[in-house]
Amino acid sequence: MPQPKGPTTPTNLQILRWVFSPMPYMEECVKNHGDIFTLKLNPNLPPIVFVHTPEAMQEVLNNDTKELEAPGDLNEPFKYLLGNNSMILLSGAQHQRQRQLIMPPLHGERMRNYADVINDITEKVINKQPLNQTFNVRTVSQDITLRVMMQAVFGLYEGERAEKLQQTLCEILETGSQVWRVALLYFPGLQNVIGISQLWKKQQQRQNQADQLIYAEIQERRENPDPSRTDILSLLMAARDEAGEPMSDVELRDELMTLLVAGHETTATAIAWALYWIHKLPEVRQKLLAELDSLGENPDSSAIFKSPYLTAVCNETLRIYPVGMLTLPRRVKTPISLCGYDLEPGTVIYGSIYLTHHREDIYPNPKQFNPERFIEKQFSPYQFIPFGAGARRCIGLAFAQFEMKLALAKILQGWEMELADTREVKPKRRGLVTGQDKPIQMIYLGRRQQQSRTLETITV
Ligand code: HEM
Repeated sequence: MPQPKGPTTPTNLQILRWVFSPMPYMEECVKNHGDIFTLKLNPNLPPIVFVHTPEAMQEVLNNDTKELEAPGDLNEPFKYLLGNNSMILLSGAQHQRQRQLIMPPLHGERMRNYADVINDITEKVINKQPLNQTFNVRTVSQDITLRVMMQAVFGLYEGERAEKLQQTLCEILETGSQVWRVALLYFPGLQNVIGISQLWKKQQQRQNQADQLIYAEIQERRENPDPSRTDILSLLMAARDEAGEPMSDVELRDELMTLLVAGHETTATAIAWALYWIHKLPEVRQKLLAELDSLGENPDSSAIFKSPYLTAVCNETLRIYPVGMLTLPRRVKTPISLCGYDLEPGTVIYGSIYLTHHREDIYPNPKQFNPERFIEKQFSPYQFIPFGAGARRCIGLAFAQFEMKLALAKILQGWEMELADTREVKPKRRGLVTGQDKPIQMIYLGRRQQQSRTLETITV
């Protein structure tokens, strides 16, 4: 049976290109092999299949079916940080149950209750920036999203334990996004190389510190239960399985870590990209400010959420450099036919979100940042797919978009800032997400006065 084609270079070279430049490598594979291709990323396993046409994305991601599954055991690379009990590593009914438990606070009315928290945190974080000085946009957006996640997950973002946990998590993720950490996934032997082994040891110490802080919080909650709390930890602690058993401390830790990690790094990167594009393209900023100012002072969070141009800017930000360049992997259960090839049971498939979003036939001039495309046309859920789809679709989808829009609206309406360096910033792998190839530096110029839709800068 003919299998989809891929590069014929030795496996180690394929891995190196995949680790260091995944996006150009995928684009090269499309040029050479078309809509479906393979990469050999493990010498002992069959090649992995990559697809990106909306039709194939729909077929592969649609849901757990009799042909395809979205099993947790394929997400082993996350285990070192998230633990065995993370929903990302669970499968089937257990996975569904965890999702249903965690979903409500991240949607609807419960989610909208976080509007004030997002506004307050954004205000506090931006106000810390010294006037006329350069700051790293990602550090600032990370500070915002981590505090927001801490509030959603634990119901607290201030206090000694919260501060310590935030700092430790930032250090863990900073190290985790370095390229040596990704290389370790493919070349585990590197763990014994001096230098890398020390970095690895330090990383494990940090993880132990974070664990201790999370366990201390769980312990305190067990000792002082408060039924009026609505944060995710309280929900998980109150939940019982079919046998009437509560979640153990380790299970709680793994799920909390998953939400903190998946929920803050991704949204922080997206906000940083949006601020870059908005300040790089003056006409985009002007249009956005006109729309936001037309909502009046202190606009309602649902008015901001529904603003068409802000939505278009956020969508275009997530399209051009999708923070998650791939979906989580799916596996063939019974033989299926995909893009003209018959795939055998056991074949692992990734949907390439990056490639879907860069298809010329869906998005003309795909390398150009053009929010208008989202005003002029409505894309199907498999053409615009930054949060994946089906059984593993991002559970933070609504929350991330809500937070992104509110934080951006608050920053743009409240402060004047400009890029300190107008050179192009390109996408680069940062761990398992698509980050920036250099820091986006901006200068804080002062508060912006929003009066009769004019732009006026005053110094503070
Ligand atoms: C801009 C921000 C974000 C982006 C672009 C993003 C993207 C993604 C993608 C592409 C997936 C894989 C989907 C699939 O395989 O079909 C995913 C899964 C996931 N995301 Fe997000 N995400 C974001 C924010 C968040 C937030 C805020 C949270 C939590 C509050 C979160 C929690 C998760 C979890 C737990 C999963 C795994 C779901 C499962 O295994 O069932 N993400 N995300």
